[in-house]
Amino acid sequence: MSEKIIIFDTTLRDGDQSLDASLNIKDKLTIALALEKLKVDIIEAGFPISSPGDFEAVQLISNRIKNSKVCALARAVPKDIEVAAKALYSAENKRIHTFISTSDIHIKEKLKSSFEKIEETAVRAIKLARNFTDDVEFSCEDAGRTSLDNLCRIVEKAIHAGASTINIADTVGYTLPNEFQNIISSLFLKVPNIHKAIISVHCHDDLGLSVANSISAVQAGARQVECTINGIGERAGNCALEEVVMAIKARAKDLKVHTDLNFKEITKTSQLVSQLCNMPIQPNKAIVGENAFSHSSGIHQDGILKNKKTYEIITPESIGLLDKSLNLTSRSGRAAIKERIASMGYEDSDYNLDNLYESFLKLADKKGKVYDYDLEALIYFTNTKDND
Ligand code: KIV
Ligand code: ZN
Repeated sequence: MSEKIIIFDTTLRDGDQSLDASLNIKDKLTIALALEKLKVDIIEAGFPISSPGDFEAVQLISNRIKNSKVCALARAVPKDIEVAAKALYSAENKRIHTFISTSDIHIKEKLKSSFEKIEETAVRAIKLARNFTDDVEFSCEDAGRTSLDNLCRIVEKAIHAGASTINIADTVGYTLPNEFQNIISSLFLKVPNIHKAIISVHCHDDLGLSVANSISAVQAGARQVECTINGIGERAGNCALEEVVMAIKARAKDLKVHTDLNFKEITKTSQLVSQLCNMPIQPNKAIVGENAFSHSSGIHQDGILKNKKTYEIITPESIGLLDKSLNLTSRSGRAAIKERIASMGYEDSDYNLDNLYESFLKLADKKGKVYDYDLEALIYFTNTKDND
């Protein structure tokens, strides 16, 4: 039996907090609508207490999103929780996500507190959040560096206080996959009421291990994965949604789990987030990088021509990637341009091929490869010139 993994997207919260300038409200809504189309289960829309803009964005997204649950972040502080609840007021399905640090280093150096006080604060916060919704997530910040005894203690108390999701955060991306798996397995062994909650994981990528750690956690019983589009997030980023969901899909038989994502929306969503966040995608990035499905060596090309499965473990079509095996350069003819534009959803009547081709050649001479977004711009500019 395959069990479902809940996909919790935090592009608009953890992702946004890593940008030089926060996304504007219109762009946040555009991303939320794309995430809904991608069928993510939960959209963490923001941290309402952090700024009026974040509050407004969570409010707007709560109004507009119908098919994904909308979540807002709050520290384990009464004001944060009340403001998060207010921002989420009109959401059809909502979650309050409250968190506090549990590691010794954070408790002593950052919070100047004691573990006992942290436990009390967490319990009070969860109980308060439950007054606004039955769906409360509690996160142990820096769980990856928290002693196992303390982690088990606070998780049991959080479940007892009413948290239905417990999130184990590897906030600084420190753990190794076998260690992180061991943390999750130990919770299942040692926390008496663990089965009353969904165990979630939230991994950062400081050592490039966030996806591996998330998959290891799933193998140990975690059933929610927190991630962001293109892996954007604090410092080196978060677990990349497209990577973790495609790893689950490609290895579903072995992992015995699945997600309900609309995989064909992955490419579009990735490009949208990259453009709106002004965060280019490295060419060799897994799944959504420019080179992820291009084959260069003669031996590989020979294999691909005989049977694509020789060097492709997932198909580009499965993530909604149009056939990019034809590079558009100054050597390309009109037929190739026309075919690519049609595959982008344009009708022949939407542009003038002769004018566009002339501009295309000038651009291709200057920059070499011409991409879909260049074609979009050329269509726009040649049409505007025609209308002048
Ligand atoms: O990395 C982290 O610990 C977080 C928490 C708010 C879950 O982002
Ligand atoms: Zn985080």
